[in-house]
Amino acid sequence: MRVAVGNDHAGYPLRVPLIELIESSGHQVVSFGTDNEHPVDYPRFAAEVAGAVRDGQADLGVVICGTGIGSSIAANKVEGVYCALCSDPYSARMARSHNNANVIALGARVLGPDLAVDILKTFLETQPSNEPRHVRRRQQVQQIEAGNELAQE
Ligand code: RB5
Repeated sequence: MRVAVGNDHAGYPLRVPLIELIESSGHQVVSFGTDNEHPVDYPRFAAEVAGAVRDGQADLGVVICGTGIGSSIAANKVEGVYCALCSDPYSARMARSHNNANVIALGARVLGPDLAVDILKTFLETQPSNEPRHVRRRQQVQQIEAGNELAQE
């Protein structure tokens, strides 16, 4: 898989351990973001990662900032990108399995590197569920994204 990774200055402490995980798992990193702790704005790198996923340059994306909040909000403004902010492996597994999230957001001021690695490992190893109820709900999300009203049940 090709995995796009981007971070701001606050996310930098997780950048190296997460890239090491991706590469040691046999995946290819598509790199965005900064390689130091000099302040930069998170929307730019989040948009770059999300754009790479939208355009098919990457299969999945990882955005890292201080909390993961700003970068997840920014990534979710890109059509076709479903970014989940995760602070535990269970949420990461559900984000892939139930929600088919294609970008994960992580907060480097919230998570230590070992936990962040576990979370991302789970995200990368989990496949989207094909169970009809999950597929139906994802399609409803896409309908909202397209500006359509949801059909009444
Ligand atoms: C930077 O100080 C911080 O605001 C940013 O990394 C992120 O946490 C925003 O949501």
